Amino acid sequence: MVIAIDGPAGAGKSTVARAVAERLGFTYLDTGAMYRAVALAAAQRPGEEPARVAEQADITVGNRVTLDGRDVTDAIRGADVSAGASRVAADPGVRRALVAKQQAILREGDWVAEGRDIGSVVAPDAAVKVFLTASADERARRRAAELGLAPDQVLREQHARDRRDATADRTVLEPAPDAVPVDTTGLSLEDVVAQIEMLAVEAQELR
Ligand code: C5P
Repeated sequence: MVIAIDGPAGAGKSTVARAVAERLGFTYLDTGAMYRAVALAAAQRPGEEPARVAEQADITVGNRVTLDGRDVTDAIRGADVSAGASRVAADPGVRRALVAKQQAILREGDWVAEGRDIGSVVAPDAAVKVFLTASADERARRRAAELGLAPDQVLREQHARDRRDATADRTVLEPAPDAVPVDTTGLSLEDVVAQIEMLAVEAQELR
């Protein structure tokens, strides 16, 4: 079974998706980490098409993220990699390559997959689709606390990233029509996890 968790940067996807996976005994898939790994690889191979880099890169995501056998878990969290990831993610060839890799990963087993296009593109048949949101201020506040940065700076970068993520011909920020919207502003992690768990139980009963 696949539980798809999509939404904009800072909506709380990673925290929520990890917690849901742990609660249900599912495996967590962080698709953003794959775009980040491609951004890192592309920066190290100037002159090469990002789509080719994405096709050829050997990326594993789990507790650690590896790129061609190298541990890049920490390296992919930097601000330039965040900006680079949303740039390479605008390349349809990169998206095609990573969506194919993600679909292969999700083919078997029970997953909580987190991203922007899981419910709409990667796993349109997902048993549960959630679109997480939070107010822009709350999203920036959470990220700032996480990264130890000033909220204003994070808010500015977040606007830029949201704009890039929403650019023409990208459906990544559009919720799948059958996704359940969950606004996490003011909700505790426990509340959000409980809501998604309930959706998963209902989906399981319907199977
Ligand atoms: O979720 P995270 O912030 O790690 O994702 C990094 C970037 O990768 C996002 O800003 C977005 O541009 C891109 N992304 C995407 N589709 C996904 C996951 C991430 O376009 N499924």
